[in-house]
Amino acid sequence: MNQAVSVAQALKKVSAGTDISISGWVRSFRNDRFIQLNDGSCLASIQAVIEPEAHDETQRKRITTGSCVQVSGKLVDSPAKGQEVEVHVETLEILGDADAAAYPLQPKKHSLEFLRDIAHLRPRTNTFGAVFRIRHLLQYAVHAFFHENGFFHVASPIITASDAEGAGEMFRVTTADPVRDEHSDVDHSGDFFGKETHLTVSGQLEAELFAMGLSKVYTFGPTFRAENSNTSRHLAEFWMIEPEVAFMELEGNMTLAEDLMRYVIGYVMKHGEEDLIFLEKRLADEEKSKPQNERSPMGLREKLRFVLENPFKRVSYTEAIDILRNSKPNKKKKFKYLIEEWGADLQSEHERFLVEKHFGSPVVLYDYPADIKAFYMRQNDDGKTVRAMDVLFPGIGEIVGGSQREERLDILQEKMKQFDIPEESMWWYLETRKYGSCKHSGFGLGFERLVQFVTGMTNIRDVIPFPRTPGSAEF
Ligand code: 4AD
Ligand code: MG
Repeated sequence: MNQAVSVAQALKKVSAGTDISISGWVRSFRNDRFIQLNDGSCLASIQAVIEPEAHDETQRKRITTGSCVQVSGKLVDSPAKGQEVEVHVETLEILGDADAAAYPLQPKKHSLEFLRDIAHLRPRTNTFGAVFRIRHLLQYAVHAFFHENGFFHVASPIITASDAEGAGEMFRVTTADPVRDEHSDVDHSGDFFGKETHLTVSGQLEAELFAMGLSKVYTFGPTFRAENSNTSRHLAEFWMIEPEVAFMELEGNMTLAEDLMRYVIGYVMKHGEEDLIFLEKRLADEEKSKPQNERSPMGLREKLRFVLENPFKRVSYTEAIDILRNSKPNKKKKFKYLIEEWGADLQSEHERFLVEKHFGSPVVLYDYPADIKAFYMRQNDDGKTVRAMDVLFPGIGEIVGGSQREERLDILQEKMKQFDIPEESMWWYLETRKYGSCKHSGFGLGFERLVQFVTGMTNIRDVIPFPRTPGSAEF
């Protein structure tokens, strides 16, 4: 029996001369002899060479792009350029045919838009193989970072009766039939949970409860927002990483965010090089179709290295507003939303101006006006601002949002009143401030935005296996 190996093992681990068998999908078959076989274990395909005489014509006709085959034979040094080894096939079995005339993926370049419509088959392409191997590495690195730094993972609930962000953008969860449209008149007592419930927008409030017991925790799970934004950076279902740390103030929170980003980016640069090089070339090709002044001056790995080597700029909201107010695009009315006065909410055009044009590096903005941020953020002594922070990245805009939390019971109660949040709905949250309260901080890192940054993919729909966006939940 030949040893069953993956393409990655055959190319890197197994020595020439070994009898092996490999299963995978045919990428191409040329001259009736050369099969490019890929199983997704790595970017590269392996060349499997058949002797036409050894396989009858009916079988050879079934070796088509997209078909699934198993080849067995000897791994040998390859005479061909660009590969060290190839398989000399002794037996070949067709595991699954793919009708050549109908199979949508041909050995040529397909647009990302086209591939989004066949998201069930796109894992078989080089680009999506690379993106999802990198996504896996990032996910693994996130857990490794926290584990190595003494954090405990908390599985925050997906179904919740609270609205962490105070934003009315949640998906309802109900077994009641039919679902009525008017929120307010619905009687939930007969519903599954006996109260109104939703898919969570954030695990933060639950993470806070655990931080005030286990000190250093994080969540890493799916979150849901029914906001109707059809942009290249928004999903209705996305994954968020939310650390929460007791006894830590805002400065420590900023440092934690930087350390986490550097660790995971460094991990991928070390362990995902083959895929990163491929994605870097892909991005460079894509950039060529853009006007000169919109092209990024840095290649993908250069951009990643820049983040590893340069501290993020820490800038207060007030300083940022001054910079924006006096900026060229503001004076020339090039911004869609002009910055006129202190208190304005920043749009992504402003964030990207700060990061890409003004500072030329990732930026941490902090101490935002209380009015434009969530109720739980810690009030500053000036009475106007809160200890909020957003991390802004080139090409992405906001990638992290977080804050130091309001730990003082009376101020928190006052804030909830201002924000119209009934105390009864949050009694459990308030009890942590009643009993043994302490300073604590945390943030949320949007995982798909991180994957976008690391892979250089422009559209967020291309970095999650099955994107959920307004009007779209196929697959
Ligand atoms: O800034 P946000 O809304 O912060 C929170 O939810 C806090 N409770 C986090 C915390 O302090 N624990 O979201 C955090 C991050 C954003 O910076 C962004 O990267 C990402 O989540 N994000 C989205 N990613 C994809 N699609 C969306 N619709 C997103 N909304 C937010
Ligand atoms: Mg935010």
